Amino acid sequence: MKIHFVTSEALPFSKTGGLADVIFGLSSALCKKEISSIVVSPLYSDIDFSSFEKVCSLPITMNWRQLVADIYRTNINGVDYFFIGNDYYFKREKIYGYDDEIERFAFFNLSYIEMIKRLNIRPDIVSVHDWETAMIPLLLKHNNLNFKTILTIHNPAFQGSSHSGALYDYFNLPYEYFENGTCRFHDYFSCLKTGIVTCDVLTTVSKTHAKELLNDLVSFNGLGHIIKLRKKNFVGITNGLDYEEFNPASDEYIEYPYDLTTVFPEKQMNQDFLLDSIRFKKDGAVFGIISRLTEQKGLDILPLVIDKIIKENAKLIVLGSGQPQYERIIEGLSKKYPKNIFYYCGYSNSFAHKIYASCDFLLMPSRYEPCGLSQLVAKRYGTIPIVSNVGGLVDTVVPYRKEKAINKADGIVFDISKEEEFVKAIDLAFIVYNDKSTLKKLIKNAMNYKSSWNDTVVSYITLYKKILGIN
Ligand code: GLC
Repeated sequence: MKIHFVTSEALPFSKTGGLADVIFGLSSALCKKEISSIVVSPLYSDIDFSSFEKVCSLPITMNWRQLVADIYRTNINGVDYFFIGNDYYFKREKIYGYDDEIERFAFFNLSYIEMIKRLNIRPDIVSVHDWETAMIPLLLKHNNLNFKTILTIHNPAFQGSSHSGALYDYFNLPYEYFENGTCRFHDYFSCLKTGIVTCDVLTTVSKTHAKELLNDLVSFNGLGHIIKLRKKNFVGITNGLDYEEFNPASDEYIEYPYDLTTVFPEKQMNQDFLLDSIRFKKDGAVFGIISRLTEQKGLDILPLVIDKIIKENAKLIVLGSGQPQYERIIEGLSKKYPKNIFYYCGYSNSFAHKIYASCDFLLMPSRYEPCGLSQLVAKRYGTIPIVSNVGGLVDTVVPYRKEKAINKADGIVFDISKEEEFVKAIDLAFIVYNDKSTLKKLIKNAMNYKSSWNDTVVSYITLYKKILGIN
């Protein structure tokens, strides 16, 4: 079985969000099960390709444009990574955020098709991700390349929308695909919609998010209406976690590595060390946030619980960057309460690991969350996630309720549709924090939770076999 992952980002080379982790984790886990896969992504400017093998240069015709795609290859832990280079489209400061986004990824999609034609590589399944590669199923069919395709939705809010002319102008596809509805969404052209109706199988990254997408016909521009058409070929498979990257027992970024047998007192020692390093006093509960600061992540409701955090003399450590309005909220809070709130604007892998290892609680008040990665990492490090009741958060956090036995509970889950529930969740966090035996049980449950890609990959393999008709 040969799987191609065609993606706009992939670790260890490029990342803005969880998609990059998924590609790396899933392809490596498949490799361990002796299923061969390759990863194809753009060659962005900060990727050091000096040691890569140059495979070839391909002429790419995009309507009137004569372009060149430089193909490079390297291998990471047994997985071949192919890169599509073009200075004009990809040698830019950021991965996303440009006015010609559709054109850039159209070039990437066309280059992938040319690459497999020229190199004569025949995948069994082409796995594409989000709008950036969602046109590939149609492009393959249009080029009479009849490989099976899977489109995975990681973030339904981004749909790659444009005017109908883009179809011909960038993708070399006839207007007919717009007229017959294949590429039309409302009255415009949408890459994601096209992918949804042309892939063989549609997936998203958790079971609950799959249900949400099917039942919520209003959100995401009404995408649910289209997804409903594919109901029979649509499944949710919860993402896994890379247990090597995130392992408190061998984490080189943390001062006192620990496992279940040493978590008490070592987690506390890590916390003390981190608080010292940011010159915070060592008293009270410590909350962490590691997040892209976008509307999706729900951080606008943070001010609701700040009074409580300050009153309890708790600490809040935030790491992340994103839309300026959310950066401003957090910046403002950290200036107002310099002894309790610490904000690192940007991203630091080493600081992220320290936060995961040191905090008592990790906050994720997401408005929607197809899967979510941080809650899985937090649990592996014995940090109790406080999450909203959406998407993958529902599937991966077992809620603790005061009136119920703890059993497997390992986090706090609240209803995001009612703001006061967030406040109650923080109240509950303080109750847990002050009752050390409950806190310890939750920490143990969290650390015992199994979420490794090595286990999760089985669901993907089952799906691949089903698509290919293999028993
Ligand atoms: C997106 C989603 C997130 C998911 C990730 C990987 O970033 O917002 O919930 O975990 O993709 O699938």
